[in-house]
Amino acid sequence: MTQCCINPSILSADFVNLEAELQRIGNADAVHVDVMDNHFVPNLTIGLPVVQRIQAVSPVPLDAHLMIADADRWAPGFADAGLASVTFHAEASIAPVKLARELRSRGAKAGMALRPATAVEPYLDMLSELDMLLIMTVEPGFGGQAFLDVTLPKIRRARAAIEGSGIDVAIQVDGGITEETITRAAEAGANVFVAGSAVYGDDDPAAAIDRLRKEAARTLRAATE
Ligand code: DX5
Ligand code: ZN
Repeated sequence: MTQCCINPSILSADFVNLEAELQRIGNADAVHVDVMDNHFVPNLTIGLPVVQRIQAVSPVPLDAHLMIADADRWAPGFADAGLASVTFHAEASIAPVKLARELRSRGAKAGMALRPATAVEPYLDMLSELDMLLIMTVEPGFGGQAFLDVTLPKIRRARAAIEGSGIDVAIQVDGGITEETITRAAEAGANVFVAGSAVYGDDDPAAAIDRLRKEAARTLRAATE
């Protein structure tokens, strides 16, 4: 089993004090930055100039989640900004293999996201082009939604395909991750966990990260024993 990571989402942070908010999650594996364009999802957040400033001051690497239309056109610019990983939505890309290669060639890890109702099967043959598969566990667009258990079979099928092919692709889950739901996601095969409200909704975000990591690691250990 690959490494277990906790990536807090700054969607639930105080956007007026982002630099200070980043200092509160110094023990995270990466910071998850949600970019929304009000076309692909019915919400608007931040664009590349703000992401570049976050990249400049963040104590941890950036994991960008692009919920934007026309990903083929816009995602490479995020890789050029030096982000550790850039994830685009399969539903927003016309040429996902080409785009994944482009991201890697620009020095970023390539991630591809699937909305809850998007099947993983059409994409199994391109897993080797990816460093990470993001299986959305809520409909993208907003923080604070409830975890969708209907996504668990897809996580299981994706994990089985990855293990079967012998390639190293992380499975990230995003949406409704709490100390309770993280065990179900980990059991199904996820190993990178995004948590917005469960981290920034806590008085002590660093302690919340530690608790989530402990729960996930315990489940992942039990699964491999
Ligand atoms: C939702 C975003 C998530 C969101 C998760 O579209 O992609 O990253 O911030 O928030 P929680 O953990 O509150 O569900
Ligand atoms: Zn996200």
